[in-house]
Amino acid sequence: MTVTVLQRRDRTSPPYINVMAAGVVYEGKRGSVEALRKVDLSIQRGEFLTIVGRSGSGKSTLLRLIGGLLAPSSGVVTIAGDIVLDPPRQARFVAQDYTQSLLPWLTVADNVRFGLRHAVDANHSPGSVDQIIELVGLTAARKRYPRELSGGMQQRVAIARALASKPDILLLDEAFGSVDALSRASLQEMILDLWGKLGFTAVLVTHDIDEAIYLSDRVAVMNEGGFGVKGDYAIRLGRPRDQVETRELPQYLEYRRQLLSDVHSSDRKEVVS
Ligand SMILES: Nc1ncnc2c1ncn2[C@@H]1O[C@H](COP(=O)(O)OP(=O)(O)OP(=O)(O)O)[C@@H](O)[C@H]1O
Ligand SMILES: [Mg+2]
Repeated sequence: MTVTVLQRRDRTSPPYINVMAAGVVYEGKRGSVEALRKVDLSIQRGEFLTIVGRSGSGKSTLLRLIGGLLAPSSGVVTIAGDIVLDPPRQARFVAQDYTQSLLPWLTVADNVRFGLRHAVDANHSPGSVDQIIELVGLTAARKRYPRELSGGMQQRVAIARALASKPDILLLDEAFGSVDALSRASLQEMILDLWGKLGFTAVLVTHDIDEAIYLSDRVAVMNEGGFGVKGDYAIRLGRPRDQVETRELPQYLEYRRQLLSDVHSSDRKEVVS
């Protein structure tokens, strides 16, 4: 079996999210750090794309650019053809550390409702809060406070809050990285279920190659030193996926072998997209 590294990806529709020659330089007291240099990445609407790469390769920086939390020092990022200047209305962010993102004095339901504070769509009724709480499996816990929940449940609340306004784009930075292995697998199942039902575009950053393959339509591997994407893999595994069976497929193991060797190699490559 051969694994496709997409060097000239054939795309029929214009990309929904387009990062074009984006550079980021962080200015600090001890000088400047070039975190990204001339990075290109395009993502189709509804795609599940995961970004992997070594620590410091610029994954979180790239996600922040897409989420409008950071302006590029050079180049441009567009969503649906519009240049991203501020956090776009259609995108929501889920970070690794749920203890920092939930409001401890609010119940589960009120934390999720908090996700609607900037929603402009009048269709967002309290009913949609109950609906999303049900989708993340927390109906019985809706009146509890974050401190009364396990880590996995708290991250479900954070995801529900991000999805309450029905965003078109969900950005996840190591969002499953702070929980035990079984909770992680159940969060993965939940995000696939939500992605299937709600149809958002998912952009995930993770260190976990298995998680990347299992969840994604595409996996992008970052070069070290902020030099952008060196590998762009289409994951053709079919859906629905299964935590045991999918991970035993020969194609899965081949993707795993290729991605691990790409992540660990220090070769810098350029991918023409
Ligand atoms: N606010 C900041 N100020 C200065 N430098 C920063 C800042 N944030 C990130 N950097 C630097 O930019 C580079 C890329 O950082 P980034 O956090 O995007 O990497 P990452 O791939 O997400 O790493 P990790 O896997 O460890 O989360 C690193 O060299 C980092 O030290
Ligand atoms: Mg990071």
